[in-house]
Amino acid sequence: MDTHQRLISAFHQHFGTDPDFVARAPGRVNLLGEHVDYNDGFVLPAAIDRVTLVAFRDSGLSRSALLALDLGEETGFDHQSILKKQDSNGVPLSAWARYPAGMLWSLNAEGLETPGMQAVFASDVPRGAGLSSSASVEMAFGAAWEKLGGWSIPPIRLAKLGQKAEIQYVGVNCGIMDQFASACGVKDRLLYLDCRSLDWQPVRLPEKTVIVIADTSIRRSLTNSAYNERRASCEEAVRILQGFLPGVRALRDVSLEQFHHFAACLPEITARRAQHIVEEIARTRQAVDLLENNDISRFGQLMNACHASLRDLYQVSCPELDVLAKLAQSMPGCYGARLTGAGFGGCTVNLVAVEAADTFAHDLAAGYTKITSLKPDIYICRATDGASVETV
Ligand code: GLA
Repeated sequence: MDTHQRLISAFHQHFGTDPDFVARAPGRVNLLGEHVDYNDGFVLPAAIDRVTLVAFRDSGLSRSALLALDLGEETGFDHQSILKKQDSNGVPLSAWARYPAGMLWSLNAEGLETPGMQAVFASDVPRGAGLSSSASVEMAFGAAWEKLGGWSIPPIRLAKLGQKAEIQYVGVNCGIMDQFASACGVKDRLLYLDCRSLDWQPVRLPEKTVIVIADTSIRRSLTNSAYNERRASCEEAVRILQGFLPGVRALRDVSLEQFHHFAACLPEITARRAQHIVEEIARTRQAVDLLENNDISRFGQLMNACHASLRDLYQVSCPELDVLAKLAQSMPGCYGARLTGAGFGGCTVNLVAVEAADTFAHDLAAGYTKITSLKPDIYICRATDGASVETV
C-alpha cells in the first residue's frame, strides 16, 4: 500500500469517515548557497520527490485532532491551547505537534480563518536529515488550512508564515529557504532565490545530469544550539563591520574585497564564519551564470568548494559527511558533492552524469559502508512542484 492509501485507510479507521482532501508538500535539497539565507544571500534549492501528506477534513469544531501515522501518536489542540504550547487537555505539545500547531498559531496571528480539522499525516522526508522535513510539515498543514479556511495567499507568503512559526513557535532561528522551496517548487527545476527581495526564478538543471542524495544515516537536531550560534556569529560580524562600512545591513552587503580588508578586525571564529558566508554568496551568484552556459564542471567545482568551506570555515560538517563527499568527488561521472542543509549529519547532494548514476550510487554506498560500517540510503531524486491540495 502506498503512503496515500495508507493515510486514507488510517483516516477512516481513526475518524470513522473519509477525508475530503489530501495536502502534499515536498522536502528540499539545496545545491548551493548554504547557511546564507539568513544573511540575505542567494540560494539554489529544489523541491524533491519526498513529501509530507496530510489527509484532512473540517472537524466542524474549533478543535483540531491530528494523528501522526509514522509515530503512532495523536494530539488535539485549539486556538487557545496552542498559545501555551499545550493540547486541549493542558498537556505540553510534543516536539512533532509543535510544527502543525506553530503553523496554526502563525496563520491565526495573520487573522486568517483556520477551522478545526481532523487530520492524519505521514512523511517520507527523513527526519533530521537536512532535507527539511519540518518545513514540509508546516507547508502541508498551511496548505490544508488554506483549503479549509477558503482563503488563498501567494505560496511565498505561506512560506514566510511557516518560517515565522519555526522561529517564534518552534524556536529555530532559521532562514526562508526550506519553506520557500517546499511552497514554490517547480518540477524539473532548481529555484534561484534572492533571500532579501524574495524575487526568484526557476533554473534548468544542467543537461544530462541527475541529483543524487546520499544519507549518512547520522541524525542531528536542528534545534541544537549550534545552528542558532552560527547565526549569532554572522550577526556579530555585521555589527562589527558596520563600524567601518555603515551601509552594511547583512553579510550579503560585504564584497570579497571589503571582507578581506576588514577580516582582521573580527574575532577569529567570527571571521571564519563570515568568510564562508561572503564567499558562498559569491559562489551561488557565479553558479547561476555557469548553469546558463551549461558549464557543469565548474558548477560542480563550486559545490566541492562549498563543502570544504562548510567543513573548515563554517564548521558544520561531521566525519561521516566528509567521507561521503570525498568518496563521491573521486568517482567517475560525479561533477560535485557536498553536504546539504544545516549539516552536523544528514545528507550529501551530488550532481552526477545520468549514465553514471546507477554505478555511482552503488559504489558510493559500498565505499561508505566499508569505511564507516554504516548503511547509507542513496537515491536519485527528481525536482517536483511545491505544496498543493487535491480533493479525495
Ligand atoms: C536549515 C534552515 C535553512 C538554512 C539551512 C542552511 O535548513 O532551516 O533556513 O539556513 O539550514 O542553509
